[in-house]
Amino acid sequence: MSETRAAAIASAVTHGGADRSARTIAAVIGRMITAGELPVDTRLPTVRELARRLGVSPTTVSDAWRTLAGVGAIEARGRNGTYVRRPTGPGLPRRYRRVTEGPGHFDLDLSTGTPDPELLPDLRPVVASVSRQSLTSSYLDHPVLPGLAELLLDRWPFPPDALTVVDGAMDALDRVATHVLRLGDRVVVEHPAFPPMLDLLDQLGCEVVPVDVDENGMVVDGLRTVLALAPRAVFLQPRAQNPTGASLTAERARRLAEVLDDTQVLVVEDDHANDVSEAPPVSLGRWLPERTVHVRSFSKSHGPDLRLAAVGGAGDVVTAVENRRLLGPGWSSRILQAVLLELLRSSEVDDALARARDIYAERRKRISAVLDAHGIEHPTGDGINLWVRVADERGALVHLAMLGVGAAPGGPFLVRDDLDHLRVTIGNVRTDDAERVADMLVGAAGVVPTSGGGR
Ligand SMILES: Cc1ncc(COP(=O)(O)O)c(C=O)c1O
Repeated sequence: MSETRAAAIASAVTHGGADRSARTIAAVIGRMITAGELPVDTRLPTVRELARRLGVSPTTVSDAWRTLAGVGAIEARGRNGTYVRRPTGPGLPRRYRRVTEGPGHFDLDLSTGTPDPELLPDLRPVVASVSRQSLTSSYLDHPVLPGLAELLLDRWPFPPDALTVVDGAMDALDRVATHVLRLGDRVVVEHPAFPPMLDLLDQLGCEVVPVDVDENGMVVDGLRTVLALAPRAVFLQPRAQNPTGASLTAERARRLAEVLDDTQVLVVEDDHANDVSEAPPVSLGRWLPERTVHVRSFSKSHGPDLRLAAVGGAGDVVTAVENRRLLGPGWSSRILQAVLLELLRSSEVDDALARARDIYAERRKRISAVLDAHGIEHPTGDGINLWVRVADERGALVHLAMLGVGAAPGGPFLVRDDLDHLRVTIGNVRTDDAERVADMLVGAAGVVPTSGGGR
C-alpha cells in the first residue's frame, strides 16, 4: 500500500512539477491533499523511500516535509511515521487557547501569566525623552540601537557570537525553532512546560520529549536518559520557570551543560522572567557558547507592551534569525528600543524592579504559607506564578469561577499524564488580599472529582 502511495506521489511530482526541488515536492503533495487524493490520516512514504524514487537527496524530501508541516498539512507521529493531518480550524493554538478560554469575566483573573501593571516601571518620563529622536536613517541600519546592543552585551550571561532584538520571547522562540527544527525532530522540553511553546513545536511537526523539573530546574539524569533518542534541541527556562517557578542554580546549569558536552544538541533558553526573578542570570551558554541561544524577554519586568526580547548566542542561528527578519518586520521598533534603553539605564527603574521583586516574593510567601498549612502541594518557586496541586482540575476551576476567580488549567502545560494542577498567577493578587485568595485556593484544591469527571 505504502509502495503504491510512494509511486503515486513520485509520479505526480515528476509529471506535475517543473523540477524536483523541495518546493515542488511540497506543492504537489499539498495539491494532492487538497484534492482529497491523500486523505486525512494517510501515512506518507518515508523520506528515504520517496527520495529514492525521485532520485533526490533525503534532505530535499525533509525540506518539503518541513514546509508541509509548517502549514499544518502533515504531522510526524513519532516512530509511526508522517501523516496527513486534519485541517486545523481557527481554534489553534490549542494548548494556549485552553489556558485562557475561561469565561473572562472574573473579578480576579489569575489565569493570565502577566505581571501586575502597578509594578511595572512608569514609562511617561522615558517616552517624553525619546519622542523627539529620529532613530532610523536607512532600512538597512543595524536592527539593534548601538547603545542598547552595548548594554545587553555587558549584561549577557556569556559572550554571545551574535545578538539581536525581536518582538518578545515568543517571537524569538518561533524564529529560532523555525530556523533550526525539521519535521520529526525530537525536542527535549521541561515537564511541565509553557503551552504556547508546546503548540509551536507541535505545529512544526516536532516530537517533544519531556524531562522533569525539580526546584533547581531540569533534572540532570532525566536529560542524560533522553539523549539516547538523539534530540535536536533542548528548550528550557532558566529562571522562574512557567509554571513551576523553578530557577536553575549555577551548579545545575553546569551539570546539564556537562551532560550535553559531547552532543550536537542546541540549547534554547527562554529567560522570560528576567528581573522579576530573584535568581541571578544563568545560562548553559557559559559552557556551551556556540550551541546556546539565550532569549531574554522584557515583558514581565518592564512591560509586555514593549514587546521586546533580546536573543544572543550561537552565531549561525542568531544571524539567520536576523537576516530572515529583514524580509519581514526588518527590526523591532527603535522607539520602543530607545524606551527600553532609557529604562535599563535608570537607577530609579532598578529600584522599582527591586521593589516589584520584593512584593511578588511577599505575595508568594503569604499564599504559600496558607497552602502549606493545609498540606496543599506546590513548589515554593520564584516569579509571578504558583503551580498548585489540586484533586481535580476541572472541579477546582469551577469552584474558583463561582467565587469570581480565574486560574489556568494545568492540563495544557503537560506533555504526559500527571497529577492535576492549576497555574495561578499570584503576582496579580494584592498583598493585603493574599490570605483570602489562598483560602479560596485551598477550597478549590480540595474539590474531589465527581464520577464521569476528568479533563
Ligand atoms: C515561559 C514564557 N515564555 C515566553 C513568554 C512570552 O514572553 P513575551 O511576552 O516576551 O513574548 C511567556 C509569557 O508569559 C512565558 O511565560
